[in-house]
Amino acid sequence: MDRPGRILAEGAEARVSEEEFLGVPAVRKVRPEKAYRPGDLDRRLRLERIRTEVRLLREARRAGVATPLVLDVDEDAFSLVLERLPGRPLTEFLGPGAGPLPKQEGLCRQWGALLGRLHASRISHGDLTASNVLWDGERLTLLDLSLGSRDPEVEELGIDLHLVEEDLNTLSAEAPRLLEAFRSGYEATFPGAPESQARAQEIRGRIRYA
Ligand SMILES: Nc1ncnc2c1ncn2[C@@H]1O[C@H](COP(=O)(O)OP(=O)(O)OP(=O)(O)O)[C@@H](O)[C@H]1O
Ligand SMILES: [Mg+2]
Repeated sequence: MDRPGRILAEGAEARVSEEEFLGVPAVRKVRPEKAYRPGDLDRRLRLERIRTEVRLLREARRAGVATPLVLDVDEDAFSLVLERLPGRPLTEFLGPGAGPLPKQEGLCRQWGALLGRLHASRISHGDLTASNVLWDGERLTLLDLSLGSRDPEVEELGIDLHLVEEDLNTLSAEAPRLLEAFRSGYEATFPGAPESQARAQEIRGRIRYA
């Protein structure tokens, strides 16, 4: 039987809790109703995000980017059941006191390589922060693709890079070195890196002078 468990995250758009699904360790991700959005629009948005997440989790995995397997989808309940992965969010391994700097740089290089593989497979993430990447001591897994797109414009690739940079800046005083490591991993796996990096820089400029 399915058994509800501990809540792992309760964000603006989704609630994630642990459960057993047909005997397998799983997490259930539910998108609750948002009363401030008109009902039809709200239902449409929630369904769209669930469908996007299911599709991109599968496509990313096929492209060699590890993601959790989707075990069940219940559109009537606006929920997904995903394989529960053993890792912890990358946020816990970056930042002050989270381990030696070279180790953090190594993780950021792997994180960059992961995003490069995603972009090289023509998928953008849309909400890429360190809390959407899990590290299990051996490999990184990518979560939370509900805002991603297939065949993204270079703008969307630039936004992914910009979000990573902002996130590292808030997480760590060593952000410049961590970003450098991130970039080297990204460039190693994505031939289009110069173009998306240039766009990220342009986005930063736009925000600064807006
Ligand atoms: N498959 C999984 N295995 C283990 N932990 C998970 C898994 N999926 C999610 N989590 C945990 O739950 C947290 C929130 O999950 P997720 O990022 O998918 O949702 P969210 O950020 O609340 O949703 P969204 O941004 O799509 O509205 C993650 O940061 C992670 O700690
Ligand atoms: Mg998330």
